[in-house]
Amino acid sequence: MSYIRTLLCCLVVGALGVASFANGQEAADKLAEPRPLDQVGFPHELYGWLIPPDNPQKPDKVALGKELFFDKRLSADNTQACASCHVPNQGFTDQQPTSDGIHHQFGQRNAPTVLNAAFNVLQFWDGREPTLEDQAKDPIINPIEMGMKNLDEVVAKVGGIPEYQVKFKAVFSGPVTIGDIQRAIAAYERTQVTFNTPFDRFNAGEPNAISEQARRGWSIYNGKGRCMSCHGVNPTQPMFTDNRFHNIGVSAHKSDFVPLARKALTLLAQGAGAQQLDQLAIQTDMSGLGRFLVTKDPHDIGGFRTMGLRNLLVTQPYFHDGSQVTLWDVVDHYNKGGVQNPFLDGGIVPLGLTEPEIDDLVAFLATLTSPEYAQAAQVEFNKQLKLSRTTRPQRDTAASMGLKGRNGPGLQGPFGDIGPDQMPEDPALLGGR
Ligand code: HEC
Ligand code: HEC
Repeated sequence: MSYIRTLLCCLVVGALGVASFANGQEAADKLAEPRPLDQVGFPHELYGWLIPPDNPQKPDKVALGKELFFDKRLSADNTQACASCHVPNQGFTDQQPTSDGIHHQFGQRNAPTVLNAAFNVLQFWDGREPTLEDQAKDPIINPIEMGMKNLDEVVAKVGGIPEYQVKFKAVFSGPVTIGDIQRAIAAYERTQVTFNTPFDRFNAGEPNAISEQARRGWSIYNGKGRCMSCHGVNPTQPMFTDNRFHNIGVSAHKSDFVPLARKALTLLAQGAGAQQLDQLAIQTDMSGLGRFLVTKDPHDIGGFRTMGLRNLLVTQPYFHDGSQVTLWDVVDHYNKGGVQNPFLDGGIVPLGLTEPEIDDLVAFLATLTSPEYAQAAQVEFNKQLKLSRTTRPQRDTAASMGLKGRNGPGLQGPFGDIGPDQMPEDPALLGGR
């Protein structure tokens, strides 16, 4: 009897499990669909300008691009699709510090989101590709991402699949070419636009769309926290980024920049082109040189693209190497004045933010979450909040208050050693109110 009851019970629980899995799957599938453009805060005009004239958005092209984005056959051993590292229900990232590519090889960089990538002025953390079209071919032929040997091999493989022959003919009126593969994928990516956040509604004139705490955070963002100086937001910069490159000291703790830069220059002088650049960035210790690999300009050593700040609570962990686990860690990093190095951006100085101010700032960042990710973001927020009460590896209160280095009792470095003279009695003045 009790056996039967247990069995029945299992069957019911099993069925419920299947049902909730099916719902979960349905929700995940929905997140992969092209998104409507009638969203609060959506910059229609800008979006129009950003669609390349030679690659207009068309539903059949977008559908083909979506298929390619999810197709593991684009990789050498049929294990990796774009969507393996850009997972729709993980905010189109993999939520890992760095990505797990073909044969479980890990690269040096964190996978940024594809959401709103249409608005990036340049692609990748170092801006080495100008457009989504140009970007789309790189991971396919990167040896530790999707591992195809070269672009000809990609065309031969995709072109050998009868269903694609038919679809490319219908969409592009010709056989499969690499250019059209790139165009279709980029067109699909341009449909992954997501705004409609509580902050967008606040900005559109709904003062109570965000909490009082988040409103305090917004003024810290613009004032004492100095975030606005790089993560500015306006109708032509809707992603909270200046689209420039700055060394904020993220790779400083593990890179010896000068010898690395010399090594990179020697290699780049041998000149193996764009594919070599991609490989230096993805799979060598020179990755931490950032924008310098692209420009060879010493000012760009350790410089990375100012990342957009939308949907941060589904695109964790943070920074180009995924080194920071919570938004509190990110703010602690800025608060202490980053990590000192000779190439540190002049805008990175100790901020003197107090604990309640840090909480306010994080509360503001959380309002940049689009509704379809609200639930997942709340779970992550709670997790990060809990962790932040016990674990704060980047917190250095003395440095953030300007009490280290030449202002403090002896050179306690490495943080804040060469900060400006400061007034510890009123750290609020540090933010330039
Ligand atoms: C093995 C994991 C992996 C795979 C597979 C992968 N990506 Fe990425 N993606 C990354 C990483 C890591 C970066 C950042 C690399 C860098 O900046 O140097 C990135 C960057 C990007 C960016 C730039 C976003 C930004 O904000 O700069 C886009 C767009 C993108 N990938 C799309 C794609 C497409 C399309 C495919 C399939 C053709 C793909 N990715 C396959 C890991 C992956
Ligand atoms: C001097 C320019 C500058 C200032 C000021 C600045 N940032 Fe950044 N921010 C950047 C750059 C550049 C990156 C990427 C750095 C990297 O990964 O090496 C970044 C990355 C981030 C990220 C990680 C995004 C991701 O997807 O991984 C967050 C979050 C962030 N900034 C928030 C803030 C906040 C909050 C402030 C104010 C306290 C601030 N930033 C001030 C330039 C700046």
